[in-house]
Amino acid sequence: MKNVKTILTLSALSLALGACSTGLDKSRNLGNPKVSGNTLAQQVCSVCHGNIGNNVNGNSVNPTFPSLAGQQKDYLVAEMNEFHVHTRKDAAAQQMMWGIARNFTPKQIEELANFYSNQSPMVSHEHHQAALVAEGQKIFNEGLLDKGVPACMGCHGSNAEGNGPIPRLAGQHADYIYKQLNVFNGDEIYTEGKENVPDVDLQRPNGAAMEGIAHGLSDEQKHAMAAYLSSLH
Ligand code: HEC
Ligand code: HEC
Repeated sequence: MKNVKTILTLSALSLALGACSTGLDKSRNLGNPKVSGNTLAQQVCSVCHGNIGNNVNGNSVNPTFPSLAGQQKDYLVAEMNEFHVHTRKDAAAQQMMWGIARNFTPKQIEELANFYSNQSPMVSHEHHQAALVAEGQKIFNEGLLDKGVPACMGCHGSNAEGNGPIPRLAGQHADYIYKQLNVFNGDEIYTEGKENVPDVDLQRPNGAAMEGIAHGLSDEQKHAMAAYLSSLH
């Protein structure tokens, strides 16, 4: 947690300092629509989403921050828009991405999505129990018939590479995947007692398909999915 706090303090500081800096190509000013997406990736996003050996490639080292390298472009655009208009509203999104995305222009979103979708994902160095990885692999490929959980690969692709608005999951931090499965699990598509009235309070409205899926997984199975997916490349 200490590391996260340090990063947050540093990033708040650098954002504040950035507001005074001049040259557009080095600007950290999130309020200036003239700053390009590539510059924002270098100067702002890299603090959290990856800056390994000064190589701003979207492979994050801290599981609090999802890796963005090689993520599907359409998905990146959708999420940035959701942070911008506050429809993706799980706690971490509110705390860390709403402020960042406040003044995003459609052009910056497009440039940022291009930048990150074109980076190469790195092999994860996380270690997980082989049995857990194997359990996750089985569910990923076959689903859980008795729980009505469909095979994840049907949507996310046979190697979890994603497809358009469906995110890549391969090589993502296990802790982040586990956390998001619990976000979906906490969502109810329909307000209780009103079976046909969609709940307006979904934390991730584009993830309505994930709600029932996450409900069907036990806590251990969620950990298994996270272990397997982070092991993929
Ligand atoms: C202070 C740290 C921080 C900074 C700086 C930051 N992010 Fe994030 N970002 C996060 C966190 C934390 C999450 C995960 C939120 C959650 O758990 O819901 C996230 C999530 C995202 C996601 C969704 C990823 C997914 O798999 O769903 C995208 C896209 C994203 N950030 C883009 C950016 C861009 C582009 C920038 C720079 C303009 C940026 N972020 C700067 C912390 C940060
Ligand atoms: C019917 C299609 C479908 C199936 C089947 C499916 N998913 Fe998803 N999943 C999605 C969509 C669409 C999203 C994007 C949600 C959003 O934009 O908020 C998503 C998002 C996710 C995320 C969040 C990723 C991120 O970067 O924040 C995780 C984790 C995930 N799915 C895991 C799984 C697992 C594990 C399974 C199988 C047990 C599975 N999914 C099966 C459609 C599906």
